[in-house]
Amino acid sequence: MFKLDRKLIITASAAAAVALFTLGCNGGETGTTASTKVNGKATIDGGVTYPVVNGKTGPYYVNPQVAQVAPKLYNGRVPTANELKAWDKDIMPDGTGLPEGSGSVEDGEEVYDAKCVMCHGDFGSGGGGYPALSKGNAYDLQKTLTNNRWKDPDADGPTRVFGSYWPQVSTLFWYIKDGMPHPFSKSLTDDEVYALVAYVLNINEMEIDGEEVDDEYVLDREKFLKIKMPNRDGFEPNIAGPGALDRVRAYYADAKNFGGQNLHQGAERCMTNCQKETAKTKRINGGITNFLPPMSDVRDLPAVKEVKVDPVAVYKSTCAMCHDSYLAPGSAEWSGYLAEGMDTVYAKGIKGTEGGMPAKGGTDLSDANFKTVVDYITSGKVK
Ligand code: HEC
Ligand code: HEC
Repeated sequence: MFKLDRKLIITASAAAAVALFTLGCNGGETGTTASTKVNGKATIDGGVTYPVVNGKTGPYYVNPQVAQVAPKLYNGRVPTANELKAWDKDIMPDGTGLPEGSGSVEDGEEVYDAKCVMCHGDFGSGGGGYPALSKGNAYDLQKTLTNNRWKDPDADGPTRVFGSYWPQVSTLFWYIKDGMPHPFSKSLTDDEVYALVAYVLNINEMEIDGEEVDDEYVLDREKFLKIKMPNRDGFEPNIAGPGALDRVRAYYADAKNFGGQNLHQGAERCMTNCQKETAKTKRINGGITNFLPPMSDVRDLPAVKEVKVDPVAVYKSTCAMCHDSYLAPGSAEWSGYLAEGMDTVYAKGIKGTEGGMPAKGGTDLSDANFKTVVDYITSGKVK
């Protein structure tokens, strides 16, 4: 048995974890050819497995044990056709790659609350560095994308979220299926992805074929292909296909298309002596010292009084999504890490590791606060 003391394999379920462990555990019998077998089962070109467990695809997984016995295969070589095929899971606007399946807004909300809300916020409101999945009615917000400032310099800027901005809904299906939830990517079933897409459409107040995606809505492949994103024609100029050059020229001949507050439609562009003499300019008498408030020469920001966090609460809200399954609070699995000394453990936790630990676990805690959470997670006790 190989020792798996330095690797935390993130999987959707314990079952998937067991499957990966067994796949990974080949006892060193593996050959070096493309027909490599692991536990009697062929892996894709000897290194890459794409396990399906309980109907769900597991994480894309490069088998480090095979890499060890066949290092040449992993030394910057060109990927094989089969490996590319395993990665190439595109879902195209015309429906290519889109699986059959269905899911309701209601189910989507349930999955969302279990697997997405911790990062993307209530009803997709975002925050804490994670993108919002909705900011309200997609059709209204799409209108903020046109250049409203050419008439009114104080107009609000554009609001770009999925509903208002993305030209194709197929990208959403692919993104969620391939990349989300962030720590457990590729763990969702197709029906769950349909349900999540339905939910995201719902919170963006969108409709399909004239029908509102309300709380009762059930999305399936056929309905999915009828979705028209509000901003589908919003990417200008269209540089694809015949006539592209003319379209690009016409686009840039019209000043309104590319901004400029004081340019009006049809205005000629100007490169020299463009300021009209009659134009009103603002002059700042006496230079910069007349600005109010005066520029500060204080260099150090005032010290912020540090509020101590509750390590257990931080663990539950942030660390647990990865650490519950391995390296849990007080677990014996910590011994290998602790042997390096607490200072190293703190330092690696703060900086993050290539093994998958994000810097400070993805939090913006102060070093001191983060260390209290490390103390808790490594010992299982609050000090
Ligand atoms: C651990 C935090 C985390 C979880 C949980 C998570 N996401 Fe994300 N999500 C992210 C991050 C970070 C990004 C931005 C990634 C980037 O820009 O590279 C993102 C991006 C997205 C985007 C693209 C948004 C945009 O406008 O660019 C969608 C859609 C999305 N996530 C859906 C989901 C869904 C659905 C779930 C639940 C199944 C989920 N996410 C769970 C962290 C998370
Ligand atoms: C996205 C998943 C994820 C999150 C969230 C996460 N960790 Fe980790 N953590 C890992 C993985 C994976 C490892 C093992 C890394 C390795 O072996 O290189 C790890 C390792 C560590 C280590 C050992 C570092 C070392 O190499 O000595 C500490 C300490 C740690 N985590 C603390 C935390 C704390 C505290 C939090 C919450 C504030 C947290 N982690 C959140 C995935 C995560």
